[in-house]
Amino acid sequence: MRMIIAIDGPAASGKGTLAKRIAAHMSFHVLDTGLLYRAVARDIERSGFRLNDRWAALAAARALDPVTLDDPHLRGVPAGDKASVIAKIAEVRAALLKYQREFARRPPGAVLDGRDIGTVVCPHADIKIYITATPEERARRRHLEHQARGEPATYDNLLADIRARDARDSGRDIAPLSAATDAVIIDTTNLDADAVFAAVMTIVRA
Ligand code: DC
Repeated sequence: MRMIIAIDGPAASGKGTLAKRIAAHMSFHVLDTGLLYRAVARDIERSGFRLNDRWAALAAARALDPVTLDDPHLRGVPAGDKASVIAKIAEVRAALLKYQREFARRPPGAVLDGRDIGTVVCPHADIKIYITATPEERARRRHLEHQARGEPATYDNLLADIRARDARDSGRDIAPLSAATDAVIIDTTNLDADAVFAAVMTIVRA
């Protein structure tokens, strides 16, 4: 049996951590699809082009080597903002679809997290989760993570970034951030990571 679990949600909603935990528990493959967009933005700039250059963006998306996703520079706020900008380009999204769909079919199962997994990439996923929390709570969690790593970032700046990302990811024309009509929506504002994991595992087992 092959199972596909789609996890979507806004920036800093905790979907990546949740996806990895479910995948580890189920011995499934896991793909953080945000990394694909982050890596395309990285590669456009490395080639000396600007992020709004559609031709360069398409070339970078087509040439993307998944081996390079394991790059620490892809983490962090600037890489996420750049990813959010190039994610608006239709040709980029189309070029990244095939890899994501093939990944989703890996046996015995796969967990993919992103913005459009349940709506566009895997509309037939066995399980669709949409995980969200208020912008203030997401900024609070991000701030704690930054403090733990000793990175300088103020709560206000992180909140402003989250609001800007939400607006860009929800407002774009193609594959905007939204919950699939058949997704289970989990608001984690008042839930800790263990409670969210337990809730999702109850759905998976059912
Ligand atoms: O999940 P993340 O923060 O790493 O994603 C970075 C950006 O990439 C996000 O702001 C929008 C884009 N993205 C997307 O458009 N579709 C996805 N499935 C995943 C990410």
